[in-house]
Amino acid sequence: MDGRGLVISGRTSGKNIMLALWANGINGYGYHTTAAQCTERKDLTNKTYAITGVNSGLGYETGRVLALRNANIIGLARTKEKAEIALCDWQGTGEKIAIACDLSDIKSVQKAVDDVRDTGKPIDAIIANAGSPARNLYCHAY
Ligand SMILES: NC(=O)c1ccc[n+]([C@@H]2O[C@H](COP(=O)([O-])OP(=O)(O)OC[C@H]3O[C@@H](n4cnc5c(N)ncnc54)[C@H](OP(=O)(O)O)[C@@H]3O)[C@@H](O)[C@H]2O)c1
Repeated sequence: MDGRGLVISGRTSGKNIMLALWANGINGYGYHTTAAQCTERKDLTNKTYAITGVNSGLGYETGRVLALRNANIIGLARTKEKAEIALCDWQGTGEKIAIACDLSDIKSVQKAVDDVRDTGKPIDAIIANAGSPARNLYCHAY
């Protein structure tokens, strides 16, 4: 069923709410739309994105798809090795730069800022993704 334009009124049943969330919106995108589908005809050559937590989950997938669209990626992870392992898998003609950034360690964050600045690349967007929805992984070391 195509639920475009479905209006949720005060008396809408739970089933209709589920259908509204499940169906695509008026822009054609919805719950099932992938990052690759949203960016299908985009060319992000010369755009630069910095992404924290680039080594897994949403950060990895976001970076993979932006890279696929030829963006430059500055990928940050707790260790440089973790970032490098993620970036080396990705296609696309943009530059891929791995930087260590452990957000629980202020010195690591300050060093990461310097490293990002040293790339000389103006940043078009920062995707502040690192974190966990379910577990408290942060252990403040400062
Ligand atoms: N998935 C969802 O349904 C959902 C819903 C709402 C919001 N979010 C938000 O979206 C973001 C990503 O979620 P996800 O599901 O992709 O989580 P994930 O797979 O657990 O990925 C979390 C990322 O954050 C990194 N990270 C955690 N603590 C860090 C720290 N102290 N310093 C540097 N990096 C750190 C992890 O690195 P390590 O691998 O080294 O631990 C990992 O790369 C989170 O901010 C989350 O709150 C997710």
